[in-house]
Amino acid sequence: MSEHLIVTDDKNARIITMRRPEKKNAITHEMYRAMSEAIDTAQNNPNVRCFIITGGSGGVFTAGNDIEDFLEHGTSNIDVSRATNAVKFLYSLAHNTKPIIAAVDGVAVGIGTTMLFHCDYVLASKTATFSAPFINLGLVPEAASTLLMPRTIGHQRAFAMLVMGRSMDADEAREAGFVNEVVAPGQTEWEARQVAREICALPAEAVAITRKLVKLPPEDMTRRIDQEAHLFTERLRSKEAMAAFKAFVARKKTG
Ligand code: COA
Repeated sequence: MSEHLIVTDDKNARIITMRRPEKKNAITHEMYRAMSEAIDTAQNNPNVRCFIITGGSGGVFTAGNDIEDFLEHGTSNIDVSRATNAVKFLYSLAHNTKPIIAAVDGVAVGIGTTMLFHCDYVLASKTATFSAPFINLGLVPEAASTLLMPRTIGHQRAFAMLVMGRSMDADEAREAGFVNEVVAPGQTEWEARQVAREICALPAEAVAITRKLVKLPPEDMTRRIDQEAHLFTERLRSKEAMAAFKAFVARKKTG
């Protein structure tokens, strides 16, 4: 748990809620740490049989990594904890053995979109939008999205999202194959609980074995996470990235 990350267990589902509405649920180091812990501590807990990741009821999933944290990282000489906590969270996703349901109501930017490729069932509201604009920030993609995204939606769509920075709406995302269902705004979490109930009623061991068979091995994902993280860290200090972060912060200050 952290100030901006609420974790509750409801029957057999662990619900992880990003709650930082004043910053569009932008994810801080502390939130990464708490999300990672929520996933890791459930692995050997038989009472938790699936996860729901949600942005709560504010009509936003997440605006992605906190850009001020990026700026801090890019200007710092030491390896600040953001990078460690973000990568740890990605490792938790890669090694997780239990189904993850995502309830996306509103914007899902950056890691808000790339984390969905580690999820098993994605619900989106009609107002959901998906983007991974790392390129516009002078960065490279993360979360093994360069491996998982083309595998799920095909090279050309992945190119448009990751290399051209284009976004998708909910219907496009469903057509592309990474959203299961499009529902009314405000309904994603309720629908996610129904899906959780359905999954939790299935034989847990058989679910775990079958899920493992349909996913890539964790080592493949962590290898790509490491490759991307290395390049990402270099890019964080690049002139292109620093200019983009400063422009975002300046835009905020001038309104
Ligand atoms: N990091 C830090 N702060 C963020 C943020 C982020 N990723 N996304 C939004 N915020 C902050 C804004 O600075 C603003 O703060 P302020 O009220 O103190 O000025 C607040 O959240 C509301 O955002 P705002 O931009 O006013 O909302 P909007 O509805 O007009 O736009 C977004 C929402 C998500 C489209 C827009 O905020 C955005 O593009 N954010 C950056 C997304 C991004 O590039 N993420 C990194 C991907 S790698």
